[in-house]
Amino acid sequence: MTIAMVTGASSGIGEEFCRSLDSRSFDSIWLIARRADRLEDIASGLSTPCRVIPADLTSEGDLSRLTSILTEEEPEIGLLVNCAGFGTFGRSWEIPIGETRSMMDLNMGALVTITHACIPYMVPGSTVVQLCSQSAYIPLSDLNVYASTKAFVRHYCDGLRAELRDLGINVLEVSPGWVRTDFIDICTGDNAVPAKVFSHTVTRERVVSVSMRDLDRRRRRSVPDLHTRAQIFLATHFRGLAEHVWKGYFR
Ligand SMILES: NC(=O)c1ccc[n+]([C@@H]2O[C@H](COP(=O)([O-])OP(=O)(O)OC[C@H]3O[C@@H](n4cnc5c(N)ncnc54)[C@H](OP(=O)(O)O)[C@@H]3O)[C@@H](O)[C@H]2O)c1
Repeated sequence: MTIAMVTGASSGIGEEFCRSLDSRSFDSIWLIARRADRLEDIASGLSTPCRVIPADLTSEGDLSRLTSILTEEEPEIGLLVNCAGFGTFGRSWEIPIGETRSMMDLNMGALVTITHACIPYMVPGSTVVQLCSQSAYIPLSDLNVYASTKAFVRHYCDGLRAELRDLGINVLEVSPGWVRTDFIDICTGDNAVPAKVFSHTVTRERVVSVSMRDLDRRRRRSVPDLHTRAQIFLATHFRGLAEHVWKGYFR
């Protein structure tokens, strides 16, 4: 049995990945997130057999339950998509530290733990997709720790890809700019974020269709649009200028 496993499957980009994977020849799609009802709804709309695994990926108990399922069932994992993640706007020292720790646990800790648990069940041709972000490329005031977690993901993707090359397993970093999902509302919360911050957004459908194309081409990185590609180029080659542009949104 070859499965695809998607974390953060209950909404946004993860949900869209599940829909897109429905037309691929997986024997089962495993959907993981906290909201069981949302996962059941999404699963019921897919023709591929699904397994719904409600889990809070910041909980050690839930992570080890997930790992135990893999150990017991030993499925072949053709694709792992790590989408679960969130961010919070605000000065880093003003955001409650518990919330920040939770974000770090999810965006980095859970992503590494799940990847670590899945790799033994992958085969040549399998792929790990990690949801990274444009923010991985530039220090962002007011989105500081979130951007730092994504810088970690980017670095981790590059190292992991090199480690897995000889095993024939690819690692695809997906780095969009703003995507129209619940993420933006969760990230903004009660903060008065200037509208121009979100002046350029893309759809989750676009992110996933470009990612699937790049996955099939065994690419290293997927960026869904020209605007974000240009921003990443700017941040990579002219970091000071890119920081200046970001700060300008808040003036
Ligand atoms: N939207 C953007 O602008 C944007 C841009 C760049 C990168 N990204 C990245 O893309 C990924 C997906 O984001 P999205 O835009 O699809 O946002 P979203 O619609 O808010 O989806 C986030 C997903 O993460 C799950 N999740 C959150 N906390 C969790 C926890 N403790 N345990 C398990 N699952 C948890 C949520 O499910 P439950 O609430 O049901 O648990 C949900 O399925 C994230 O890693 C994000 O950083 C997003």
